[in-house]
Amino acid sequence: MADKQYTDAIALLKADHRKVEDLFEKFSKASAKDRKWALAREICTELKIHSTIEEEIFYPTFEGKVEEDLWHEAYVEHDGAKVLINDIMAAEGKDDFFEAKVTVLCEEIGHHVQEEEKPGEGFFAQARESGVDMVELRDRMLARKEELMAQARGGGLPPAVLAAVQVQPA
Ligand SMILES: [Fe+2]
Ligand SMILES: [Fe+2]
Repeated sequence: MADKQYTDAIALLKADHRKVEDLFEKFSKASAKDRKWALAREICTELKIHSTIEEEIFYPTFEGKVEEDLWHEAYVEHDGAKVLINDIMAAEGKDDFFEAKVTVLCEEIGHHVQEEEKPGEGFFAQARESGVDMVELRDRMLARKEELMAQARGGGLPPAVLAAVQVQPA
C-alpha cells in the first residue's frame, strides 16, 4: 500500500521536499539544454502537485492553529513560486532567463521549506502541536496527490492558480 510509505501527513510533505531538492541539485549539475528543460519540467510538476495538496488540504486544516503571520506567508510564498513556475513552463526552456528563473525558484523554495520545517517553531512543528490526526490527513493528501499525478501523466496540469497575490494583466 502506497500510504504505508509515509508515517503521517508531515512525513509525506517532507518526502516531497527532499525529492524537489534532489531535482534542483540535478538541475544545477546538468549541462545539456534538453536535460535541464526535462528536469525543470519535473520540478514544476512536483511543486504544482505539492502546493495544491498543501493549499487544498494541509494549510486549511491549520487555520487558527498555526501563527497567523506564518500561515499567511505560506500562501504568499507559494504564489511567488507559482509566478516563476508558470513562466518557466510557458517559455519551455527557451528564454535567456531560463536558468536564472530555475535558480531563483530553487532559492525561494529553499526559504519556504525552511519556514515549514524549522524545528520547534516552523509550520509543521506548530501543526503537530495542534493535536490534529496526521494519519487521516495523510490519507486525504495522498489520495489527492495520486489524482493529480495521474492528471500530470495524462494531459498535464494546468498553470498554477495564485491564491493570495493579485497579478495585474500586462
Ligand atoms: Fe511544503
Ligand atoms: Fe508549502
